[in-house]
Amino acid sequence: MKRMLSGIQPTGYLTIANYIGAIKQFIEIQKKYESFIFVADLHSLTVNPNPNHLRKKIRETVGLYLACGLNGKDTYIFNQSENIYHPMLSWALECNSYIGEMNRMTQFKEKSQKHITDGVTTGLFTYPVLMTADILIYDADIVPVGIDQKQHVELARNIAERFNHKYGNTFKIPVPLLPETGAKIMNLQDPTKKMSKTDENPKGNIYLLDELNIARKKIMSAITDSESIVKFDPINKPGISNLITIYSSLTNKSITIIEKEFENANYGVFKNKIADEVEILLKNIQTKYFNIIKDDTIEKVLDKGIERTTQIAKEKAYEVYHKLGVGRY
Ligand code: TYM
Repeated sequence: MKRMLSGIQPTGYLTIANYIGAIKQFIEIQKKYESFIFVADLHSLTVNPNPNHLRKKIRETVGLYLACGLNGKDTYIFNQSENIYHPMLSWALECNSYIGEMNRMTQFKEKSQKHITDGVTTGLFTYPVLMTADILIYDADIVPVGIDQKQHVELARNIAERFNHKYGNTFKIPVPLLPETGAKIMNLQDPTKKMSKTDENPKGNIYLLDELNIARKKIMSAITDSESIVKFDPINKPGISNLITIYSSLTNKSITIIEKEFENANYGVFKNKIADEVEILLKNIQTKYFNIIKDDTIEKVLDKGIERTTQIAKEKAYEVYHKLGVGRY
């Protein structure tokens, strides 16, 4: 059976962009592929978050995975930091990748600018190699991600090809999988930048745990344009195009159908319809979430996930260390 792997950092609060760009795909694929979905808690350390806050966020992320529809039977869900073989493989790959490659990563360029005053950690620089290890250690066939992570998956492909060439066939070459609609959801208050769970202004983001009336308000006050024509045109009408994308993803209706449906409607009418869809989604997720966190469901799912993923990851890490000639693997 082919394998799907992906992860989300437990920094900030999960947004509807994470749902549309990533989680929705995980759920659609989990029955067709052997699936590995983890909480990328080691990646969160790159920006030195508060430890108590991080601990809470990790649990919340797993709870939200389950509430969104990931299922602990079809999918191995685990914490990255509990699987020691990820950083073990990462080190081997760091010694087979180059500073020039890391410097070309657009996310590193952006994040290093953002964290310039509190210091750019070495971890932030080598972050894409750990991500490469996450992917290659399971011989993942596909990696569902939003567009901002595509370059990292492409780096993983390059590192895998180089390693295979140098040390013999070791890794599968993974393929990034982007959603047809919603690979880059934009900020509601500034539709020229992407929606990000670490953004300081909460008004531009819909969080999966937002109160329903607050989520509605955020949609209703989303920045659009003065034309009041529901037409998809990301260059000239980024705000309304972003809203069309969100609506399209939540209803599975095509953009053409949506344009037709709202041909004679003003933005207020359209926004209300989107707010209804967002409300349905959030209500469903939140009802499940607040049930899931009541008992030990999360612990059981994580226990099962870490047991199986440790077995698989250990084999691959040992194979690599053996090929590199270190230790007695
Ligand atoms: P992270 O936590 O930043 O984002 C999680 C997922 O959400 C997608 N995403 C978006 N999709 C559409 N529109 C947006 N505005 C938007 N913002 C975020 C991301 O593309 C991602 O799919 N490095 C990764 C976590 C990671 C990982 C991995 C992913 C670590 N190892 C291995 C895949 C495979 C990250 O920080 O994602």
